[in-house]
Amino acid sequence: MKNMITVRNEQPSDYRWVEEIIRKAFWNLYVPGASEHLLVHTMRSHEDYLPELSFVIEQEGEIVGSIHFTRAWIVTPAGDQIPIVHLGPVAITPELHRQGLGRVLITHAIHQARALGHRAIVLGGFTYHYHPYGFVSTKKWNISMPDGKFYTGIMALPLYDGALDDISGTIKLSDALYPDGSTLEAFDASFPPMEKLTLPHQKEFERAVAQVDED
Ligand SMILES: CC(C)(COP(=O)(O)OP(=O)(O)OC[C@H]1O[C@@H](n2cnc3c(N)ncnc32)[C@H](O)[C@@H]1OP(=O)(O)O)[C@@H](O)C(=O)NCCC(=O)NCCS
Repeated sequence: MKNMITVRNEQPSDYRWVEEIIRKAFWNLYVPGASEHLLVHTMRSHEDYLPELSFVIEQEGEIVGSIHFTRAWIVTPAGDQIPIVHLGPVAITPELHRQGLGRVLITHAIHQARALGHRAIVLGGFTYHYHPYGFVSTKKWNISMPDGKFYTGIMALPLYDGALDDISGTIKLSDALYPDGSTLEAFDASFPPMEKLTLPHQKEFERAVAQVDED
């Protein structure tokens, strides 16, 4: 059993533990504190949530990470909405970073999304986290954010040959990704206390999310 790694669908009995891990993984990482645990908590009851693509990774029988998906769309200039899926958040418990667990989890989820017939995955994040799986900036396909801009941190992965080749437009993300922030403080207070800190590396995130793709 030692070091046995398994990936399986998330079950309701996992929810609270998964939220604890997400909270720890994101705490003070991009902003002081974190909101991703609330995001996942509310996302699960949204109509755009994809429970069949929500996975937990276990090491020696204990959940050490999770990944979640919601529906997303590419809105073409003609106004058609092409369905795709959005990956995120994904989290591995901080003590176990850089041991290959994220790779196992993300690779599993990509295979499952492909097996379920989805066209493409879109996400936002640091390029160094997602380039290893083949994600590239959506500028490659002339797919922008709703503001018309291309960002290096907005990436996509086509799930079959040519899946995005004749498609351009703007990305439409689900409302599920924008929970009511006014509930965060009360929700967070139900978790063990952790100190919110302003840290230098948070600036790096601010820069990364605003970086326009000039290539
Ligand atoms: C992102 C995250 C899930 C990756 O999980 P992980 O188990 O640490 O990742 P892995 O060990 O499987 O790394 C796989 C590859 O991703 C890349 N990578 C992962 N973390 C990286 C980092 N901090 N810096 C540079 N490359 C990184 C590397 O190519 C790595 O391969 P390598 O270790 O052989 O070089 C984890 O770091 C995490 O939970 N972070 C906090 C939450 C977060 O930022 N989530 C992503 C935004 S939604």
